[in-house]
Amino acid sequence: MTKSIGRCVVVLLLLSTAAPAVLAVIDGLLPNGDFERGPPESDLNDTRVMGRYSIPEWEIEGFVEYIGSGHMQDDMILPVPEGDHAVRLGNDATIRQKISVTRRTYYSITFTAARSCAQAEALNVSVEADFGVLPIQTVYTSSGWNSYCWAFKAKHSSVWLSIHNHGHEENPACGPLIDFIAIKTLHQPHLVKGNMLRNGDFEEGPYIFPDVPWGVLVPPMSEDLHSPLPGWMIMSDTKVVKYIDAKHHAVPCGGYAVELVAGRECAMLQEVKTVPGRSYRLSFFVGDGNTGCHGPLVVDAYAAREMMKVQYESRGTGGHRRAQLDFVAEENVTRVVFQSNNHHMKHDGTLCGPVIDDVSLVPVHAQRHPHP
Ligand SMILES: *[C@@H]1O[C@H](CO)[C@@H](O)[C@H](O)[C@H]1NC(C)=O
Ligand SMILES: *[C@@H]1O[C@H](CO)[C@@H](O)[C@H](O)[C@H]1NC(C)=O
Ligand SMILES: *[C@@H]1O[C@H](CO)[C@@H](O)[C@H](O)[C@H]1NC(C)=O
Repeated sequence: MTKSIGRCVVVLLLLSTAAPAVLAVIDGLLPNGDFERGPPESDLNDTRVMGRYSIPEWEIEGFVEYIGSGHMQDDMILPVPEGDHAVRLGNDATIRQKISVTRRTYYSITFTAARSCAQAEALNVSVEADFGVLPIQTVYTSSGWNSYCWAFKAKHSSVWLSIHNHGHEENPACGPLIDFIAIKTLHQPHLVKGNMLRNGDFEEGPYIFPDVPWGVLVPPMSEDLHSPLPGWMIMSDTKVVKYIDAKHHAVPCGGYAVELVAGRECAMLQEVKTVPGRSYRLSFFVGDGNTGCHGPLVVDAYAAREMMKVQYESRGTGGHRRAQLDFVAEENVTRVVFQSNNHHMKHDGTLCGPVIDDVSLVPVHAQRHPHP
C-alpha cells in the first residue's frame, strides 16, 4: 500500500507475513452485506422478516423488515435505490453475522444507513464486548443515505458483529434502514521519519465503497486506539468528521483527507509526546473538497497555548493552501486540535466544511540563542 502525490510523504506499510490458519475476511462487502439475497417469500409477512435465519448469512432478532426500492410508508418513499434492497431495524431489533478475523488485528466496519421517522436515532454496533453507539440523526447527504464507521480489535478468530437499534418509538417500523456493510483491516500507522504525528496524511482509515460519492462519517471517538481513523480522536456529543477519498473529492494529498463538516460542534485531535519548553511546528493543508462548499472557510488549529485561525477562500471547486503554527510545548503530552470555525452548507442544504490533509509536526530549533 503505497500512496504518494507530489510533495507528500510516501508511506510503506509492511504487512505481516504470518499466514493465518483460517482465511480471515477480506476488505470489502461482508457476505450478503448488501442484502441482495433476501428471505423466501414465505418468511415475510408484508415486509416483516419472520424467521431468525431467513436472510442469508445473517441472524436477526426483533422487528426487522426487508425493504425493496419504491417501498412507501405514510406517503413517504423510503430512499432505497432502484433495484436495491435494505433492511430496517425496528425497536430493539438486531442483525448479526459471524465473521472470521485475525486475532489481535484491528478492523473497521463501514455501513450505510438512512433514518426514517424516528427522532433521535442511534445504532449500537458491537463485536463481543466492544461497542459503539453511533448517532445517526444528522443527515449529511441529499439522498438521505450516509455511511458510518466503527472499529474494533479482534480478540478471537471468529466474532459476532451486531448492529442493534435500541430505539423505543411508538411506531415499531420507525427505525433506520441499513445497507452495504463492509469490513477493512486497519494497519496501525507507525511514525514516519519527519513527522511526530501518526497517520497525519489520513491514508489509513475506514473502508470507502468505490462507487459511493459521499465519503464515510467518523463518529465521536474519545480513544485513539480503536479509532477507525488510526491516531485520531473525534470529540463531540453527536457530530462527526467526514473521511473522503480522492476518487470523489479534491484531496490535497494522497488518496484520502478529512472534511470538518460539523462546525464547532466537533473537534479532531491527536495527542503527541513533547518536551516541555521545546519549540515545535505544526503544518497542514486546508482546502475544499470540490463539492460546492464555497465561501470563507476557517479552520481553528490549537496546540499548547497557541491558537490559529486559517482562512481559506473556497470557490467550492477544489484547492488548498498550506498553513503552519509554531508553539512551545508546556507538557510532556500536547494535544493538536482542529475544528471548523463555522457551519457551512451546500446548495442542496447539506453540511460541508474545510478539508484538512497532510498534517505534520516537527521540532524546530530555536533560531535566536541568547548567549549570556
Ligand atoms: C401478519 O401481520 C399481521 C399484522 O401485524 C398479523 O395480524 C398477522 O397475524 C400476521 N400473519 C402471520 C402469518 O403471522
Ligand atoms: C451495545 O451493545 C452491546 C452488545 O450487545 C451491549 O453490551 C451494550 O450494553 C450496548 N450499549 C448500549 C449503550 O446500549
Ligand atoms: C508526564 O508528566 C506527568 C506529571 O507531570 C507524569 O505523571 C507522566 O508520567 C509524564 N508522562 C510521560 C509520558 O512522560
